[in-house]
Amino acid sequence: MKNRDIQSAWKYHDGTKHSYWSVRNNPHFLDWANRPLSFKIYPTSEPIALPRDVPQTGVAALAAISARVPLAAGDSVPDLRDLARILYFSAGVTKQRKYPGGEIYFRAAACTGALYEIELYVVTGELNGLGAGVYHFNPADVSLHPLRKGDFRGYLARAAAMEPAVVRAPATIVCTGTYWRNAWKYGARTYRHFGWDNGTLLANMLAVTAASGLPAEIVLGFVDAEVNRLLDLDTRREVSLCVVPIGHTAESSLPALREAPALGLETIPLSEREIEFPAMLEMHDASSLASEDEVAQWHQGGRQTVFTSSAPAGEEVSLQPFLEEEHPKDTIEQVILRRGSTRTFDPTAAITFAQLSTVLDCATRGLPADFLEPGAQLNDVYLIVHSVQGLAPGAYFFHRERKTLEFLKHGKFRAEARLLGLEQQLPADACVDVFFLADLNRILEGYGNRGYRAVQLEAGAIGGKMYLAAYALHLGASGLTFFDDEVIQFFSPHAKDKSAIFLLAIGKALKRKP
Ligand SMILES: Cc1cc2nc3c(=O)[nH]c(=O)nc-3n(C[C@H](O)[C@H](O)[C@H](O)COP(=O)(O)O)c2cc1C
Repeated sequence: MKNRDIQSAWKYHDGTKHSYWSVRNNPHFLDWANRPLSFKIYPTSEPIALPRDVPQTGVAALAAISARVPLAAGDSVPDLRDLARILYFSAGVTKQRKYPGGEIYFRAAACTGALYEIELYVVTGELNGLGAGVYHFNPADVSLHPLRKGDFRGYLARAAAMEPAVVRAPATIVCTGTYWRNAWKYGARTYRHFGWDNGTLLANMLAVTAASGLPAEIVLGFVDAEVNRLLDLDTRREVSLCVVPIGHTAESSLPALREAPALGLETIPLSEREIEFPAMLEMHDASSLASEDEVAQWHQGGRQTVFTSSAPAGEEVSLQPFLEEEHPKDTIEQVILRRGSTRTFDPTAAITFAQLSTVLDCATRGLPADFLEPGAQLNDVYLIVHSVQGLAPGAYFFHRERKTLEFLKHGKFRAEARLLGLEQQLPADACVDVFFLADLNRILEGYGNRGYRAVQLEAGAIGGKMYLAAYALHLGASGLTFFDDEVIQFFSPHAKDKSAIFLLAIGKALKRKP
């Protein structure tokens, strides 16, 4: 079983680290004439327009981010309007901006380089307003493109080894990653970006499904080849990353199994030429599950891996989040439309400890995922605090279960943060930088190589929740990339033996003078 040979994940991780020298010696350049198309277009299938006049949920953003929808006794079944809301606020175009070479269509969730390599598909039974089938979501014209007619939920459920949430779901969204669309800029590091960018999108998706009163879960346990076949993917170019069952029926209504023959549907090429990065194909192959048995082992491995952070050794400060009645009332939809990565932070600004506490608290209450026991988390959260009223500048470790920050070292670390964040000004000018670090050894031993997918995805999803929480509080945020080993050195000895996974800066946007 390739998934158990965890040297593969280590090889990929170590081979895609950024360091001072790797960045300077990288011969890669951006070939603008060959920039990939940011939409997947099927020229031959007739699209079904999604409704655009979908009513807002009215649910406040912070409640939607923190909420988990309990399974109701009855059925909760999405209709076409729910699907339209979920797809649009996860991956829809929310802004567009011209630049000298063309136009960028910005989407609902943050994405490295605004390259939007994550595609969404829907596998559904008969819904109010939509026939059973397999569809591709095209954000360019807000439509669904039918790939297969008929109910293929039984096929998907078998691929997920009859995972209960998939078995009972009236509809399931499948997220895929398209290598070249992101690798055009980021090369082999794109496999990490798959997790991050899929994660930020999932943060939106989970918040909007919760606000719509629909249960949803992230499922990473599935036979890769089966799901890829169902979506008719060319797997050298695009691969399934996760499936998200939406809604729940008390009785399983799965139809009889049916076959999914190859379709060979035509799609518009992304670029004139594409470059393949073997390290990513190898990483994907090594983390693929080949049989239902392997899927079952994946679930078991997760349950057996216990994550508890060590007891605090130093001084602790308890979080002081806002009370729920003090939360801003803006709806999750309003906040998603307002969100956009901060391009320049105001280095003279400060946020309050209540704001920081609220972001940390709302974003880390646990993800509904098949690889996590309730309340568990793979990533550890470390902070560099620059300017937070009521909290001394310095480095901290976040004890999630205790809701406290443990003091690691005092000091003003703006210059260090600039260096750790790939010598960019954003992490130096932010009020706080939130680092996600993980004990990769332990994760890979528990889950195999697929644990690497899980830890990147989880960081992206929690980071995505932090993005939304920051914007709900009228703050700014930006995801960032980083020098791997330098991050670990900075937080050591506490972070000894961990690996750097993700970085998010939070602060206040610099207001430009008129
Ligand atoms: C995981 C992640 C890493 C990012 N890294 C950087 C970065 O290193 N530098 C930067 O300026 N922006 C970074 N961004 C911000 C993206 O460029 C931004 O999300 C993208 O342009 C889309 O714009 P929007 O977030 O305003 O919608 C990152 C975003 C994400 C999600």
